[in-house]
Amino acid sequence: MSDTHRTAFRNIVGYVEAEALKRQLEAEGSDLSEEKGRVPATINRLHPKRLKLRVNQILEDTPTTKTFRMVAEDQELPPFQAGQYVNLFVNIDGVETARPYAISSSPAERNFYDLTVKRAAGGFVSHFLLDRVQVGDRLTSTGPMGTFHYNPLFHGQELVFLAGGSGIAPARSLALDIIDHARPIHLQIIYSNSYASDVIFQEQMRSLARRHDNIELTEIITRPDPGYSGLTGRLTPERLAELIDQPKNKRYFLCGPTPFNENAQACLEGLGVPRSQIMVEVNGPPKHPEAMAGWPEGISSDHQVTVTVRGQGSFNALAGEPLLNSLERNGFGAENACRSGECSLCRVKLISGEVFNPPASRIRKSDRKFGWIHACVAFPVSDIEIDIM
Ligand code: FES
Repeated sequence: MSDTHRTAFRNIVGYVEAEALKRQLEAEGSDLSEEKGRVPATINRLHPKRLKLRVNQILEDTPTTKTFRMVAEDQELPPFQAGQYVNLFVNIDGVETARPYAISSSPAERNFYDLTVKRAAGGFVSHFLLDRVQVGDRLTSTGPMGTFHYNPLFHGQELVFLAGGSGIAPARSLALDIIDHARPIHLQIIYSNSYASDVIFQEQMRSLARRHDNIELTEIITRPDPGYSGLTGRLTPERLAELIDQPKNKRYFLCGPTPFNENAQACLEGLGVPRSQIMVEVNGPPKHPEAMAGWPEGISSDHQVTVTVRGQGSFNALAGEPLLNSLERNGFGAENACRSGECSLCRVKLISGEVFNPPASRIRKSDRKFGWIHACVAFPVSDIEIDIM
């Protein structure tokens, strides 16, 4: 190292102390190699790429929902923040695929993760989990991931969680976190479902709200049976204005099916809530991309295209199916986690042809420039050739 460089490094805060510590450790006979091994081990413990899980218990909550209580097979479960998810890998009759599921248990509970699964109309993985997975089965997942979680530095102490359907899973985790850690936070949960029989964790959430002044719960049913006596109807700005005191002063978490999130966000913005105070958990690829702005005219969702994976082969796919799903069905894997266009793990390079990227697809500017797409939310609207690196 030249003298000029050495002087420049010494101007860095902490450099001189670090250099002195290194000299001291070397004088004591340490070459720091034991420290080198500790860092990756700690990272792997806190942020493992893969977790081996076993189904320890299955809790049946509603006719369309089960909660899988998962324990670790061979390592301790890493800590997580309420609102995070794991991506659960499955092999369904030879098809390797995965789906992200929010952890619905408390972050204070270190012995298991609860994963709450609701049957999705036309679903593939949800049907497999609900119909075929048993206590004792082993599954693999990623470690906890995602940015949809409370941050005490930025989010204040007045939170409102608008949950639709299985979107109650992260809301339950957040409520339990607040209670278990005695956090000085007021959490208002507004929970919407189509039918009264769909309400997940009903007894537990009602009981938490009864016993804790800082947890408030409102249930709303959009398609009530005759005689239903609770609140009914879709969320509207007027309804939210009735329910939420001083709505502009709160921090919002939205989690539900895409139409629920879009409506809830529009309602909040209609009440003057700044976009920066609203966090939305994207819930998978859009179910009807053909109905979205920007979808090419004259192309139906069942339009057939050919996908060519450079140097590896071709297969037929449908324009309305996310590219990642058809890749997996045809034996071409791509790393993935969020399956909602956010994490970038499923990036593949588009060599030729055209895909529809919905707004949820957060492709970086530089990626867009060089043709990278997020396969989990890319819809091939013409014959395409891609490169899986
Ligand atoms: S899996 Fe996260 S962007 Fe596709």
